[in-house]
Amino acid sequence: MAAQIAQLQQASADPTAGLSPQALASFWMPFTGNRDFQQNPRLITGAEGAYYFSADGRKIYDSLSGLWCSSFGHGRKTIAEAIARAAKDLDFAPSFQFGHPMAFELAQKVAAVLPGDLNHVFFTTSGSGSADTALKMARAYWRAKGQPQKLALIGRMKAYHGVNGLGTSIGGIGGNRKTFGPLVDVDHLPHTLLPENAFSRGVPEHGGIALADQLEQIIALHDASNVAAVLVEPMSGSGGVVLPPKGYLKRLKEICDKHNVLLIFDEVLTGFGRLGAPFGANLFGVQPDIMMLAKGLTNGAATMGAVAASDKVYDAFMQQNLPPWSVEFLHGYTYSAHPLACAAGIAAMDIFVGEKMAERAAELAPYFEQQVHNLKGLRHITDIRNLGMAAAIDVGNPDGKPGQRPWQISMECWKRGLYLRYSGDNVQLGPPFISEKSEIDTLCNILADVIPSVE
Ligand SMILES: Cc1ncc(COP(=O)(O)O)c(C=O)c1O
Repeated sequence: MAAQIAQLQQASADPTAGLSPQALASFWMPFTGNRDFQQNPRLITGAEGAYYFSADGRKIYDSLSGLWCSSFGHGRKTIAEAIARAAKDLDFAPSFQFGHPMAFELAQKVAAVLPGDLNHVFFTTSGSGSADTALKMARAYWRAKGQPQKLALIGRMKAYHGVNGLGTSIGGIGGNRKTFGPLVDVDHLPHTLLPENAFSRGVPEHGGIALADQLEQIIALHDASNVAAVLVEPMSGSGGVVLPPKGYLKRLKEICDKHNVLLIFDEVLTGFGRLGAPFGANLFGVQPDIMMLAKGLTNGAATMGAVAASDKVYDAFMQQNLPPWSVEFLHGYTYSAHPLACAAGIAAMDIFVGEKMAERAAELAPYFEQQVHNLKGLRHITDIRNLGMAAAIDVGNPDGKPGQRPWQISMECWKRGLYLRYSGDNVQLGPPFISEKSEIDTLCNILADVIPSVE
């Protein structure tokens, strides 16, 4: 199959895949320099395993599992077949007041792999939808508990929770917020990137408790009686693999419990094995009240997100004194639990469990860590951070041109058969767990050549 795709593409070898300039301008691309793309299209026309195939007939190593989502490798047959079956048998069914069995089956499979009592799964259509859903759920929880004044939401700087209204507000990446003005009033904890932790291997040593203790001050500012929830990623991927120093997450949890504030983990990116454990919550031994999911839930093969609620949260909704025709949580999407996405999710969960994907990531992680940290000392590299199968390399920015160097590096890598994600002043790595050690070698060799070569 892969050989066929490659052969076909070799024959055409047209980087534009025959698209006219008008066609290229018709699609307004997300998070993309559209003008540059139209001049230099980088088109992907096939995928299998750890590779993409480009329109100009090349095999490209996928060093970010798509966008941190296709961790089990591309082109998974069981997922493709499940989606095709669903498209034929049940193209759409509503999940408002009526339902279809696959939604319940998937919810049960997801709950079975989640830590603790996160037993109740609310389906969304993306990670961004999961952010807004989780935050609305937190506020509605307190109203159901008779404390409707508990509204304040606390996020963290450098965090990424997608692009919807609430997620943009509580997110902590300045560039993603500045264009849109204030959306929702939220507070932010400081981020956890400390200079003394530069070049840490895995979880950094210093500063965790002091950073988490800042939460005490923010809660005091509002008074705990007004605070609904704290939302953090166990590790922020999009912020540049920003890691929680030792003890940080445990301390956050202690403070939340002490003040009766919900703790929400955004595991959209860290969930389903990325950190070498099923979830960040498992790795750090910290149980959130609510967890956000997406990406790995379908191995990236269908658009789906989810918010998992603990028994405590779910029960508060179900135990409201409401008549049977009344809705407990007035929220949902037309495409919540879409049959095609559920089919993909069920097949992906079978792969996650059946092929022990978290263990596979954990096995490859030490080698990945070693190879990535071997890049230390090369020109431009000011920090390397990693955990599990995630890493970021800070490459700085030439004066007055933020974003230029990581972009140049990524463009050069593309020419050399490597898809590399960049953002801010770093490049980010999140290889598929099915990668071979030799592929990690090739990835790091290309980076070792390219990073010092740009200005
Ligand atoms: C931690 C986290 N939350 C939320 C999102 C948003 O997900 P989506 O792009 O599916 O809306 C992302 C996407 O990268 C993410 O990494």
